[in-house]
Amino acid sequence: MTDIPVADLGGGVELPMVGFGTWQLSGRQAYESVRYALQAGYRHIDTATMYRNEYEVSRALRDSGLDRGEVFITTKLPPGKAGQERKTLAASLRALGTRYVDLWLVHWPPPARAIAPVWREFLALRDEGLARTVGVSNYSIAQIDTLIKATGAAPAVNQIPWSPAQYDEAVLEESRERGVTLEGYSPLKSTDLGHPVLTGIAEKHGVTPAQVVLRWHLEHGIAVIPKSERPARIAANFDVLSFSLTPDEVARIDRLSRR
Ligand SMILES: NC(=O)c1ccc[n+]([C@@H]2O[C@H](COP(=O)([O-])OP(=O)(O)OC[C@H]3O[C@@H](n4cnc5c(N)ncnc54)[C@H](OP(=O)(O)O)[C@@H]3O)[C@@H](O)[C@H]2O)c1
Repeated sequence: MTDIPVADLGGGVELPMVGFGTWQLSGRQAYESVRYALQAGYRHIDTATMYRNEYEVSRALRDSGLDRGEVFITTKLPPGKAGQERKTLAASLRALGTRYVDLWLVHWPPPARAIAPVWREFLALRDEGLARTVGVSNYSIAQIDTLIKATGAAPAVNQIPWSPAQYDEAVLEESRERGVTLEGYSPLKSTDLGHPVLTGIAEKHGVTPAQVVLRWHLEHGIAVIPKSERPARIAANFDVLSFSLTPDEVARIDRLSRR
């Protein structure tokens, strides 16, 4: 199996650049999809308290036979739980059947007055070893600067919507300058997979337009976490390591941006 590229999040933590998204997967379907994803080679699972599938993720991981340390697990603090960080993380750890998560994210920015206190609590719980690293989701660069100003610590990751139509060079550059790794979500849902630029490039490489979109994220150093409940797609979405895009192809996809 080809090695999954990783992003260095500091402190010895490495984020596998292709992960499995689990939003809208629940019950048996969540269990079976995550099981299949782990069989297909994914070593990074993205869940959240809000998704209500942490328990299914833990069962799939247990039954996979993989060691806990082989799989990178992300979960997230729901918007309504600002001020209840410790209790919420403890519940996630119980549901996930683990002593630590690899990445804990603030799912959405809390109200302005809570933004720095929540982040301080995240850093404290990380320092206790309950999360190997911490980050945010759906934050603007200005909100990230608020965190850095308040604590001196930038989030390791910002998980935001990302796709060719949402490509934003400034956000990419400004995140990089602050040492924040971008993780793109809803990469496929937000893309016209029938666009001639994507179908043309896909044909040239003998892959699908979805694989081109996922590979384009990697070419930009952006982690990507596609979700599917269909085994063939779960496998295909992971199979993006055996081809690469030329700089010209990447630039043509960048120009699909509607920003
Ligand atoms: N932090 C946040 O606020 C936030 C918000 C949204 C999402 N996320 C995370 O990001 C993950 C991915 O985002 P997402 O689930 O919104 O969207 P996505 O992964 O872009 O798209 C999922 C949709 O695309 C379909 N699909 C999957 N593979 C495909 C393929 N190869 N070809 C064509 N269609 C395909 C899926 O259908 P089938 O299942 O039928 O294949 C599903 O309808 C989520 O699962 C979640 O973990 C985070």
